[in-house]
Amino acid sequence: MEQQIGVGVIGSGMWAGHFVAASQRHPGARAVAVCNPNIESARRMADRYDVADAVGDVDELLARPDVDAIAIVTPNDSHAEIAIAALAAGKHVICEKPMAMNVDEARRMKAAADAAGVVTGINFTWRHPSAAVYARHLVSQGELGRIFHINGCFHQGWLINPAVPLVWRLRKEKTGSGCLGDIGAHIIDLAEWVSGEQITSVVADTTTFTPERPLPDGSGSGRVEVDDAASLLVRFGNGAMGSLTSSRNVISEGMDQRLEIYGDKGALIMDFNDQMTVRASIGRFARENQMLSVPIPARFKRTAEDYLQRNVMNFIDAIRKGEQMSPGFADGLHNQVILEAVERSVRDRTWVGIDGS
Ligand SMILES: NC(=O)c1ccc[n+]([C@@H]2O[C@H](COP(=O)([O-])OP(=O)(O)OC[C@H]3O[C@@H](n4cnc5c(N)ncnc54)[C@H](O)[C@@H]3O)[C@@H](O)[C@H]2O)c1
Repeated sequence: MEQQIGVGVIGSGMWAGHFVAASQRHPGARAVAVCNPNIESARRMADRYDVADAVGDVDELLARPDVDAIAIVTPNDSHAEIAIAALAAGKHVICEKPMAMNVDEARRMKAAADAAGVVTGINFTWRHPSAAVYARHLVSQGELGRIFHINGCFHQGWLINPAVPLVWRLRKEKTGSGCLGDIGAHIIDLAEWVSGEQITSVVADTTTFTPERPLPDGSGSGRVEVDDAASLLVRFGNGAMGSLTSSRNVISEGMDQRLEIYGDKGALIMDFNDQMTVRASIGRFARENQMLSVPIPARFKRTAEDYLQRNVMNFIDAIRKGEQMSPGFADGLHNQVILEAVERSVRDRTWVGIDGS
């Protein structure tokens, strides 16, 4: 019988359920424990997904021989420490994005993974909805030809309300950067993934529209030290120009994620809020300057459960096959290098090259 992969999920907040559910759904795996120093929270999540154990201590989880793989779904300030300890214990590791607080941490995580020789994953979720999968397919088939422009955005609106308190996502010491590392990281990854091109330089602007917010415990207010929004001009390796924005101050349908790619043979526009069609101008329609709504073929369709859990399923498959997966720690590090280049660009008000990560 093939090995059943035992997964330990660390964190039991908003996003951790996808990791637990995927581990339970995969026929070759099971979630063996949920870990959180807040043991009641861990127990609630374990009970919800029929997981036997809740543990309060990361080291206790890592010492368990029935745990082959670790999923890190905690605030960003703990990713590096947990990942490096898990890798030292010989566990496979999938980690939430942004990979780390900064490039130095991400480099140390990648080095620890290389030394351990295990499978790593980074949860760039938004590669997997139907529209992104089909858009990538069209580009990879050469339908767009030589690509000139890659523009994208990822917008949310939850910070328009000044009464939203200073939660961990807005505290620099817990999150690293703000909107940039949270959803900016995704649109950077999506633009590269769908187009197949890599960003080679960036000039950027960030801002904090609401610099003071109430403290969560109601004891006063505090300063917001991270960005509410980030705008990037980027260059890609093939010479294409790009503009990528992320904001938490945009009235939208909640998950406003769009990508436009323009080439010399065709063009496409994908919108997260439409998983039935992409807008495209390809073949004879491009020659006639017509943009059409193209239905996404059935074989590219993904349910929400499927795309939200896809990286975890691929991670478990990779462990069972003894292969690496993508996105892995190399992709997470590359993304972190771009995030840090954005911060440098804003600080120095200049273009910054993306070094080989
Ligand atoms: N891929 C995506 O689209 C996506 C979406 C949402 C969140 N995320 C990422 O997932 C991570 C968690 O985000 P969230 O929304 O679930 O946050 P959350 O605040 O809802 O949950 C965080 C959880 O981690 C626990 N925790 C904190 N420190 C811990 C530690 N040292 N050990 C164990 N548990 C600890 C908290 O008690 C809580 O249960 C973040 O890195 C975030 O960027 C990714």
